[in-house]
Amino acid sequence: MSAPSSTFRWCRGGDEFARAAADHVAALLVRKPDAVIALPTGQTPLGLYAEWAARVAAKKLSVAQARFFDLDDYLGVGTDHPLSYARFLSEHFFVPAGVPTEHIRLLRGDAVAIEAECRDYEAAIAAAGGLDLAILGLGVNGHIGFNEPGSDWSAPTHGVTLSPETRATHLAQTQGRFPIPQHGITVGISTIVAAREILLLVAGGAKARALAAFRRGIPDPQWPVTALLTHPHLTVLAEAALQSTTAESISAK
Ligand code: GLP
Repeated sequence: MSAPSSTFRWCRGGDEFARAAADHVAALLVRKPDAVIALPTGQTPLGLYAEWAARVAAKKLSVAQARFFDLDDYLGVGTDHPLSYARFLSEHFFVPAGVPTEHIRLLRGDAVAIEAECRDYEAAIAAAGGLDLAILGLGVNGHIGFNEPGSDWSAPTHGVTLSPETRATHLAQTQGRFPIPQHGITVGISTIVAAREILLLVAGGAKARALAAFRRGIPDPQWPVTALLTHPHLTVLAEAALQSTTAESISAK
């Protein structure tokens, strides 16, 4: 078994990747202007957010009716903290694209009653009619959101302990400027796979192992991304440079 090749769209990185991702989202927003969308953070979607905001500014696309959730955040950080994913999304997307604040519900990294926050978040997604689209990045260890290797695939939104690999990656990305929290909060895999559509964004050579695990097509809790294998409406937008490297990894297994 291997991941269906129809699932993949390979394209060059940089602007081409950003445009392809933005086209994908734009197609949904044309069909359904009030779509409910879950957003990732990280380096990978930065081009998408810039492209999306530029299209809104040029009045080629509207996000005025769309509703947004995020996928994850660190626990113990407020929205003003430089590590906060809520702050990241505000700076890179919500403010530049002029998304109405009443259309945004983000996980509270500074929640004290974490279980109550998780329940409220699930209730808010359900009240919005469920996710039309979950846009995902991919961790170097195969995580989606902050669902780390070994996560329970039936879990809804929950608090997590971050893996040493994830924390080391983030420490390097932030040049060691801030201690990386040990815990996070994430939309669970059961909530992600309940989305009517999923767009997985994969760029950068560091993702080769995780993408190869997905392409092998074997559901494996040690590679959380493989939980997406059976999703009926999944698109993997991946940088073309990964096509041959991950194919080699598949045949080497
Ligand atoms: C973090 C986030 C994920 C994101 C991943 C990939 O771990 N919790 O939601 O998908 O990083 O980030 P990047 O795109 O920077 O590689």
